[in-house]
Amino acid sequence: MATQSRVEGKARSFGENLEGDLAAKFLRVVENAAIASARTMGQGERSLSDQVATESMRQTMDSIPMRGTIVIGEGERDEAPMLYIGEKVGAEFPDGREVPEVDIAVDPLEGTNLCATGAPGSITVLAASERGGLLNAPDCYMEKIVVGPSCKNAVDLDAPPAENLKNIARRLSRDVEDLVVIVLERPRHEKLIADIRAAGARIRLIGDGDLSAGIAAAVIGTGVHAVMGSGGAPEGVITAAAIRCLNGYMLGRLVIDKPELEERIARMGIRNKDKIYEAEDLAPGNQLIFAATGVTDGALLKGVRFFGEGTRTSSVIMAMRTGKVRFIDSIHLEKGPDVKVRFM
Ligand code: FBP
Repeated sequence: MATQSRVEGKARSFGENLEGDLAAKFLRVVENAAIASARTMGQGERSLSDQVATESMRQTMDSIPMRGTIVIGEGERDEAPMLYIGEKVGAEFPDGREVPEVDIAVDPLEGTNLCATGAPGSITVLAASERGGLLNAPDCYMEKIVVGPSCKNAVDLDAPPAENLKNIARRLSRDVEDLVVIVLERPRHEKLIADIRAAGARIRLIGDGDLSAGIAAAVIGTGVHAVMGSGGAPEGVITAAAIRCLNGYMLGRLVIDKPELEERIARMGIRNKDKIYEAEDLAPGNQLIFAATGVTDGALLKGVRFFGEGTRTSSVIMAMRTGKVRFIDSIHLEKGPDVKVRFM
């Protein structure tokens, strides 16, 4: 569809029809960004990997008829050249029709180190909603527990890990010893890791990427039963959008351990720094869309594969109101009529 450049014209909130349409367009955004960053896989250049994903996302977004506002992005306006918080993205319909008004949270490349080293689990990812549907979280840590639909209300951020694991195991009709918990491998998690080990559960330590891990925990059959520990709060908001689409369960609490952060959250209007957020608080929108594409192989999504005549990507796209969760295996053909497409 031909579009004009940056949105200045009419905007409206989006209904069911537009939700599906936008979801398909956001799929293109994450696919293109994944293909761009996958080209840099293993080059040891994390900034470059992030940069190409960010540029690609920004470019594709600007072809989508919408009045988009980045609410979670690459940082504040003065620290990021594009996809900064508050940046306007999108295009006009050429015929002047009203475009939808959309808030967007992006992590153009989650797991920059993973991509730069060719390690598993990096994804390109975004969440979108009607205006105000995604918490504008500060760039600090968030304590998180993420579990699947069977474990709603079975965990508590203040409970010892052993108690949470016992409750998860009971809900999943198995022993604690059968559970797999993903934890970011960080010195701050030494005690958590020791506690999980003492409780008897198995652990998968990851170098980065608690967002993609959180999505895996909410999907049955991935072999991941929970994610525990602290990671980025912005990642927490994007995870929450996916968790709501997947009917999973998540708890989060901001880690406000410096006076600057106290001032920052006060400026943002967050009054209770100890508040425990559920997915509905982090991503309160009614029209949530979530899109992610694998860059390197992960528990849920395969990484990008280049095969000479084209490129294959593995993505998930979810739209909450229409209740659609689509796993999309795309082949992007590049080299004309002699191309061969292989089944799976
Ligand atoms: P990048 O997207 O910047 O590569 O960060 C990935 C990540 O591992 C997140 O998944 C996680 O929430 C956060 O960083 C953890 O932060 P830290 O590396 O400071 O522990």
